[in-house]
Amino acid sequence: MAVLDKEHGFKIYEIENEVEVNPYIQELDMKLESLEKEGYEHFMLKEIYEQPRAIHDSFRGRLNAKEGWISLGGLKQYEDQIANADRIIIIACGTSWHAALVAEYYFEDLARIPVEVEYASEFRYRNPIIRKGDVVMAISQSGETADTLAALKMAKEKGAILLGIVNVVGSTISRITDAGSYTHAGPEIGVASTKAFTTQVTLMAIMAIMIGKKRGTIDPDKYQNLLNEMEALPSKIEQLLESDDYIKKISNEYKDCSNALFLGRGTAFPIALEGALKLKEISYIHAEGYPAAEMKHGPIALIDENMPVFVIATQGEHYEKVVSNIQEVKARKGKVIAIVTKGDTIVKNIADHVIHIPATDEVLVPILATIPLQLLSYHIAVMRECNVDQPRNLAKSVTVE
Ligand code: BG6
Repeated sequence: MAVLDKEHGFKIYEIENEVEVNPYIQELDMKLESLEKEGYEHFMLKEIYEQPRAIHDSFRGRLNAKEGWISLGGLKQYEDQIANADRIIIIACGTSWHAALVAEYYFEDLARIPVEVEYASEFRYRNPIIRKGDVVMAISQSGETADTLAALKMAKEKGAILLGIVNVVGSTISRITDAGSYTHAGPEIGVASTKAFTTQVTLMAIMAIMIGKKRGTIDPDKYQNLLNEMEALPSKIEQLLESDDYIKKISNEYKDCSNALFLGRGTAFPIALEGALKLKEISYIHAEGYPAAEMKHGPIALIDENMPVFVIATQGEHYEKVVSNIQEVKARKGKVIAIVTKGDTIVKNIADHVIHIPATDEVLVPILATIPLQLLSYHIAVMRECNVDQPRNLAKSVTVE
């Protein structure tokens, strides 16, 4: 319990026995306005529009394309252990778990380190095999999620090195881990995570590129191109946000649907899961995300003229295969809303709607492709008069089991 008055400032007491306690004070470098809507109708919309700044803050002082360096001060002490790890186990919940899935692709592709992604709530009870020196990394916006905390504590008992990727400064996860990095997204008020997610994915890219460089597993041209493209992300997101009105029009066509499917391949698969989660969280429409190729092993049975299928079909390694997945959906009269790379000429002739995102390195597509899916879910939820910032049955941080 805190007691504040003009004269004495504030004192902290244990509620039980009213014994005064000496708190650990952490100064927060944030402005009060950041807790206000600043003219936006909802915190979620404001936080979607804050992503250019948030992404910039998440890599500020951590990379410099011109000078060709990348560094995470908070992990410096453990860089060798991470680079020489037999494997990295990433634990998380909710949207943070989707960021962990993207990180798996990043570390295995760019740093050639095996990764296991775990739901913290399952991991803590599964009696997993953790060897001394294993790197266990928790991703959490709040830094207070009970299942993630408990899983970390269990991993610590088994001798693992604990890393934390959190947004809230001074949170419990940032204090019990051996090292870590903040995502610097700023306060996230909307229960459905948006800017915290894209900054988590940005930080995972930075970390994988940094470790890949150290291990010599990343091609120098690829390395330099990724640094250039990373620095270009904020302005590309600005461009993307300009198509908000167009995305709102598409949302209007699907606001009354009762089911939806989200498809993606490679690093876009976790983004399909995230798109589905966003729609579920705030509009209460049943939605599922799937690896596009998995569709024909079941979900394709759901497809008819009433099923909107959101597909991430950007240029890259999987493009042709995703185009044929779109044709499979259209053959069953499904409605296709495709996220494509600016200048795409093929998908627009097959899909019902296309939303263009600026071209970027395939590694960074998850960050850009998420944003139209955030806006689609937001507009559909508003049109359904849902409580976008405080959706039913959900909390910003689940601190109890
Ligand atoms: C849920 C939030 O309660 O917890 C989600 O509604 C979030 O948005 C999830 O992704 C995990 O929270 P955190 O803080 O550990 O990332």
